Amino acid sequence: MGVKTTVISQEQLEAQYAFCDKVENYWHQVGRTPKAYVETYGCQQNEADSQTLRGLLSQCGYDIIQEAEGADVVIMNTCAIREHAEQRVFGNLGALTHTKRRHPEQKIFLCGCMAGQTEVVERIRKSYPHVSGVFSTHHLWQFPEVLYRVLTEKKRQFFVQDEAGAIAEGLPMLRDNTLKSWVSIMYGCNNFCTYCIVPYVRGRERSRKPQDILEECKALIASGCKEITLLGQNVNSYGKDLDCGVDFADLLAQIASLDGDFLVRFMTSHPRDASTKLFDTMAQYPKIAKQLHLPFQSGSSRVLKAMNRHYGRETYLSKVEYAKKVMPDLVLTSDVIVGFPGETEEDFQETISLIRQVRYNALFTFIFSPRPGTPAAKMEDPTPASEKNRRFDELCALQNSISEELHRAYVGKVMRCLVDGQEDGNLLTARTEGGRLVRFSGDPALIGSYRNLEITGSTTWSLTGSLQEG
Ligand code: SAH
Ligand code: SF4
Ligand code: F3S
Repeated sequence: MGVKTTVISQEQLEAQYAFCDKVENYWHQVGRTPKAYVETYGCQQNEADSQTLRGLLSQCGYDIIQEAEGADVVIMNTCAIREHAEQRVFGNLGALTHTKRRHPEQKIFLCGCMAGQTEVVERIRKSYPHVSGVFSTHHLWQFPEVLYRVLTEKKRQFFVQDEAGAIAEGLPMLRDNTLKSWVSIMYGCNNFCTYCIVPYVRGRERSRKPQDILEECKALIASGCKEITLLGQNVNSYGKDLDCGVDFADLLAQIASLDGDFLVRFMTSHPRDASTKLFDTMAQYPKIAKQLHLPFQSGSSRVLKAMNRHYGRETYLSKVEYAKKVMPDLVLTSDVIVGFPGETEEDFQETISLIRQVRYNALFTFIFSPRPGTPAAKMEDPTPASEKNRRFDELCALQNSISEELHRAYVGKVMRCLVDGQEDGNLLTARTEGGRLVRFSGDPALIGSYRNLEITGSTTWSLTGSLQEG
């Protein structure tokens, strides 16, 4: 796309680590250990960014706590995907005036995707004076500097210049789970689907080098990680900006060839770029989970064109057919938008028929939300909200019945699952290779191992099982 990615140099990173030391010294002089709270909204990409923020905070000497009350630093890592997500953030930001009143030295920061929108930044400047610092996703690596300046300059800091985007390697991450880890393989998006804000707030597509990703995966596996989820807005276009001859399927194959007992998953795949090579690679390697999140958004080719998705209904269906042919046990999930501007009842029924035909294990369902600055926000939208809600309910009811049927079909099967936790001191939880949740009773010492579970019951959302000995 002709926009150059900034690769953050080692010197630039060292300068940030020096700010970490300065912040640590600052608190040393104060004479106590500071506390920080990071609240995350939105997708896994933001969760992964929050882990980096926690890593940087802990390098600055902060203890990470689980609530805003009593925290010296509160970071809101925000999402801009739908209006509702933004309203929640503004509501919670407003509520922080109370914690700040009780603890006037508390420093509140806003970052993430909302910080990439000029209107939001202006609103924070004018109406939320208790927010001390704002930094967009491109400036995440500069957080130690933002923090130090806020602490010492007594001036609000805004690191929000519009940039194509940066890649900073080696930033510390404080992961909250050693068993399952997210690994970002690329950042940004070039697709400009007409409804979507992401390309505006996360910048252009840029891939990390295969070697850096492999090293990170190796280190995770060596430290006991059993499940790696590769993250990107459109993982199938991985590597296009690198000219190193490694595409996403190649990268997956290289990761799946690493030693160790683990599974690798990924999200999200854009159907336009999902290739037969990708599906063949998934089928070939036992360490690649047979799970595919392939958002279709609409079953109507006319609506897909208006969405700028670059594929039609038939292309999508033929890709799914191929994927299911080479991976008979494939677990398929997807995203769908109801009520895109101008969606007719006929278009909607095409969405319904596509769902019936594909039979997804689970769907993430959304009602269209106009995002300022995107083309779809300016499109005519004559359908009343009540009608959109009706369509939404019809779609959810259909999907629930399909999920329930598919789950019921697992009953009686024995499945290899990763035991990943325990619910409130009670049942253990595990995940099938396809990512389905299974609850069963067993010894908590099993957590962290792969076990065979016989599926004994099912609901719309989950399965129950019993441990198979041996
Ligand atoms: N990069 C991913 C999606 C990221 S956003 C992809 O292309 O598949 C996650 C989901 O949010 C999208 O798949 C879409 O279904 C939904 N979404 C995005 N913008 C939206 C909007 N303006 N209104 C409603 N849903 C939206
Ligand atoms: Fe948004 Fe489309 Fe990019 Fe996904 S591919 S992040 S929906 S613009
Ligand atoms: Fe939201 Fe940004 Fe993710 S807008 S969905 S947090 S990429």
